[in-house]
Amino acid sequence: MTRQIHRGSILHFPKASLNPSEHYQYWEDGVLVVKHGLIAHLGDAKDFLQAETTPLAQLPIVKHQGLIIPGLIDSHVHYPQVEVIASFGKQLLDWLNTYTFPAEQQFIEAAYARGQADFFLQQLFAHGTTTASVYATVHPQSVTSFFEAAQSHNARMICGKVLMDRNCPAALQDTPDNGYYESKQLIEQWHKNGRQLYAITPRFAPTSSEAQLAKAGQLAKEHPDTFIQTHLSENPNEVQWINELFPDYSDYLAVYEAHDLVREKSLFGHGIHLTDREYIALAASGATINFCPSSNLFLGSGLFNYQRAQANGVSVALASDVGGGTSLSMFANQADAYKVCQLQQTSLSPFDSLYLCTQGAAVAMGIDTQIGNLNVGSEADFVELDMQPTPMLSQRLNKARDLREQLFAINTLGDDRVINATYVAGKQVYKKGQHYVATAV
Ligand code: GUN
Ligand code: ZN
Repeated sequence: MTRQIHRGSILHFPKASLNPSEHYQYWEDGVLVVKHGLIAHLGDAKDFLQAETTPLAQLPIVKHQGLIIPGLIDSHVHYPQVEVIASFGKQLLDWLNTYTFPAEQQFIEAAYARGQADFFLQQLFAHGTTTASVYATVHPQSVTSFFEAAQSHNARMICGKVLMDRNCPAALQDTPDNGYYESKQLIEQWHKNGRQLYAITPRFAPTSSEAQLAKAGQLAKEHPDTFIQTHLSENPNEVQWINELFPDYSDYLAVYEAHDLVREKSLFGHGIHLTDREYIALAASGATINFCPSSNLFLGSGLFNYQRAQANGVSVALASDVGGGTSLSMFANQADAYKVCQLQQTSLSPFDSLYLCTQGAAVAMGIDTQIGNLNVGSEADFVELDMQPTPMLSQRLNKARDLREQLFAINTLGDDRVINATYVAGKQVYKKGQHYVATAV
């Protein structure tokens, strides 16, 4: 395979950092060289061209007008809920019963699931997201359909079968044993198959019996390099319900700890209403909280305390949580993250928020040698931003005095319109304005 040379302005965070504003790399005229789906070179264009022996006219150069950044990472999203995005008037528990559980029942049909998986992936790419940690439904075929669709694009995706054996419609329930065996089969078939990774997925403690949580924990011990994804302390009524369902435990996280579900690669959606003990325990475990600002605002769940999480040393990654969230755009979610922090007297830097959905997410999830950055050897998942996407944003960007101001304007006003092109393992999977097949109805 020949190499591809992408030339344009380039921004990324090469390392783990507690202060991303100080630790980014930026080239106004840079090159990113892709070979065999991996990044073979990154640096200044002039240096690169000077060292080249091939005549310029013969080099396979793709010139980008926009800014190249790593593919975005959405660390918590529900693909079966895309069709119920923007559903009116309910908070978490009523929202689940009214909109989400009925929608998820359709995924018993593999063909329906595949149609929605294809649509979801196309939408992710159109929003610049190249990796997501995805909840399927209780039906194993919903996971198979998703992984088959992801594999067809060679996209690095994380997904898992939802485990639920109580407090939800009978049609969405498995049992501790079935859930265990179906998950195990899926792990054996899909975990590390190509770029696919598996997440053991007990939905949240209220919809699993202790027997099921124990089986999920057993699975997690048997497969220590899989992810675990679940929800934690999202809504005050949910936390109250936990107290009633699990009276013997000191707090919400203690329920997961008692069942061996808190470790590195555990991804906890939300984490809004946490006690001091829970912050400390999360930090010690190496687990990650998924900060889901658009969902938290939309469902009225509360304000995630980013500063407190940081002060306690808890890993955080940004997420859309669609369909509770209102946009698959990690820019729209950065805008909401900024506002959530403003309401708590903290101003989230645009470098920090971009880090939380690129390198920071990859570091938290332990996949930063593969994705999240544009380092040599990483997988060539990247996005070209359109720096003249709308009249309003174009004018604002023209007035911006530096990269920080540009980035902040893109974060605040951006959505899928700021994505010009998306590349997965070096291959273009989305180009603005080009027709692409999106099969969902
Ligand atoms: N808690 C349990 N299930 C869900 C879900 O599907 N979405 C959100 N936002 N919270 C949940
Ligand atoms: Zn969720």
